[in-house]
Order: sequence, then C-alpha cells, then structure tokens
Amino acid sequence: MKEVFKAAKINDHVYWVGAIDWGIRDFHGYAIPRGTTYNAYLILADKITLIDTVKAPFKDELLARIASVIDPEDINYIISNHSEMDHSGCLPEVIEAVKPEKVFASRVGVNTLYAQLHTDYGILPLKDGDVLSLGNLNLSFVETKMLHWPDSMMTYLVEDNLLFSQDGFGMHLASGERFADEINDDILEYEAGKYYANILLPFSNLVIRLLDKVEKLGIKMDIIAPDHGPIWRQDIGRMPEFYAKWAAQKPTNKAVIVYDTMWESTAIMARAIGEGLAAGGTNVKLAPLKACHRSEVVTEVLDAGALLVGSATMNNNMLPPVADVLTYLKGLKPRNLIGAAFGSYGWTGEAVGQINDILNAMKVELVNDGIKTRYVPDGDVLKQCFDLGTHVAAELTKICDSEE
Ligand code: FEO
Repeated sequence: MKEVFKAAKINDHVYWVGAIDWGIRDFHGYAIPRGTTYNAYLILADKITLIDTVKAPFKDELLARIASVIDPEDINYIISNHSEMDHSGCLPEVIEAVKPEKVFASRVGVNTLYAQLHTDYGILPLKDGDVLSLGNLNLSFVETKMLHWPDSMMTYLVEDNLLFSQDGFGMHLASGERFADEINDDILEYEAGKYYANILLPFSNLVIRLLDKVEKLGIKMDIIAPDHGPIWRQDIGRMPEFYAKWAAQKPTNKAVIVYDTMWESTAIMARAIGEGLAAGGTNVKLAPLKACHRSEVVTEVLDAGALLVGSATMNNNMLPPVADVLTYLKGLKPRNLIGAAFGSYGWTGEAVGQINDILNAMKVELVNDGIKTRYVPDGDVLKQCFDLGTHVAAELTKICDSEE
C-alpha cells in the first residue's frame, strides 16, 4: 500500500499521515455530507513521534503513509491527544506494528484508552504544562478537559510554533487538499461552524477560557493541525476569532423556525411567522424537518437570536422529528435565545405545551404561551402568526441594539 498512500509534508519536521473517509455520512447523529478525514501526524525528530492514529478500518492506510517516509518500526513515541475511537480505534494494532518505546496520553486519556481498547500496554500519563524532549525538538502539552471529552489534550511543537489541536479548529471535510488555503472559504466557514455547533457548543465557556489561556501564555501559532479536515498555515488567527464569536453566542437579528407538520397546517403557520419576521427586518431561516437534518438546524441556531418551534399533535405528543431535534438541541445548550412554540391539532393539542416545557428547560426566553389552532388555521390565526413574527423581530431588534 505504501506505493499508493503517501504522506503529505507539512513543514521540515512534520508529515500528515492520516486517512480520508470519503464515504462516511453519519458521525454519531451529525450528518456529514462532505465526508471527513482522520488526521495523524509524524514528527521526524531525534525521537520519531506519531501524534494520534485513525479510525480502525483505516489502520493500513495510516501505516502505508508512514512507510512512505520511514520504517514504521522507527517510531519511538506515540501520543494520543484524544481517545475517541476515530483517533484511537486502531491504537493497539499500531502499537503492535510499530513497537514504540513509549505511548503517552493525558491522565484521563490513559484511563479512557484502557476502558475502550482493553490493551495491556503501559500508557504513560502527561499533564498540563509537561514538556517532552524529542532530542532536537520539544513538545509541550495543554490539557483541554471537556473540549470535547474529559481526556482531550493538545500538543504543541515548540520549535515550529505548531499546535496539534485535536478536534479543536477541525471540521468534517474530506478533500484531496491538505491545507485550508487550498479550499473554498465559504465551505471552510460553513463546515467549521457546523462542527462547532454539533460538537463544541455545549462547552463554549471552556472555549472562552482556553482562548484566554492561550493568549496569556503567549503561545504563538504558525500552523494549526487539527484531527479533522484541513491544516491551517495562513491567516492563523481566523479560526480562534471564529471560535471566540461562536462561543460568545451573542444574539443576532436572525430567527430559526423549525417545525414538522402532518397536513401542512403547522407548515402554513411557520411560513406566516416567517413573513412577520421578515417584515420586521429579521433574517429568517425556515427548517422544515422533512427536509432538514438536526445537525443543519443547530448550525443555523449557532448564530441566531430566536428559535421558534412548531409541531402538530399526534397521539397526545409532538411529532417524533420535533422531539428528536429538541432532544439534540437541548443537549448542545445553545444560549441567549428568545422563542415561541406553535402548532395545529385535531383533538387534544398537547404539542405546544410540550415544546414550551423543553424550550423553558433550554432557558429560551418565551415571548408568549404559543399559538395553537384546531385543524387548518384560518385568516385570524395566520394574522396571529404574522404578528408573532413581527413581535419577535421587534424584541430581537431591542436585544441587538442593547448589545451594541
Ligand atoms: Fe474526532 Fe472527538 O473525535
């Protein structure tokens, strides 16, 4: 395989030796229509070091890319920045193939690797601030607990100002290009935002603290090498700036209307609310759940100031796709939203109250008790929906003005 799968040179010391997964479309419930990469990196120092591995089915591809540069058995150290299976799934087999002198992980990572992989190899713990000499080069380590797992850690190649940022600053994007500056900017921004919304959003307070810490430590970055997607070697401040913005979740004059419908009554209500929002000057996105995946919805919510949720009532409950998206959104903890519920019903009409309960639990500030209508909305109900839209638009304008 080494004749086919080659390493990609990142700088004088570092090669990308990961794998490209063009075919994956689901990442534990997060739709990734552009596939992904599992990035691993080889540092050619006196002590040759491998940073992370890849998802288990891609082990041979990893070893082939390594073999295009060196004999894999020449690797001295392996460092696991993150034990989630997309980066550690083949670690026991790689250890067996490479026979390294030492394998390192964060203190929590050691336990997580044992719990997942049941290896009896003696993995050594690293803690925040530790420095590991590779002879002519040095690595330092930053524990990033809960960004996004308890074990998560970043590794910094001191002499090259190169940060191996693990899942941070990454995105799910399969590409033939290895560097971000070779890829369309709109795709980068959308996929990086989608990754943040679907993976890192609940930990936004920790992101803010980490960005502060990096600034205070004066860590200079010439290259950011994440575990998914392209590597950043130009405009290095761009991703940290995006992360600071997304983590702050400042309300914007944008509203997302997410809904599912049985016989189009709730859909007509959604469109009427959307008309009111637009008339009030708000940027509006409708997310009909028959057409939008939950991971697209949260991506839209990432930079929104309002969330309106609609569902018909079926068998005393909201429709299952609405329960799905609300469960997902609740777990991702978006903040600083105002909102409302709406929906049509035939007999009992529980859905609006159930949505209100979940929006309350999510700390969404409800602007009213919601609008529900029996069967098909008439002109009066559609006017109520339109007025709800203009009311939310006015509230958002006030909120955004007070933020300036
Ligand atoms: Fe890419 Fe958290 O694993």
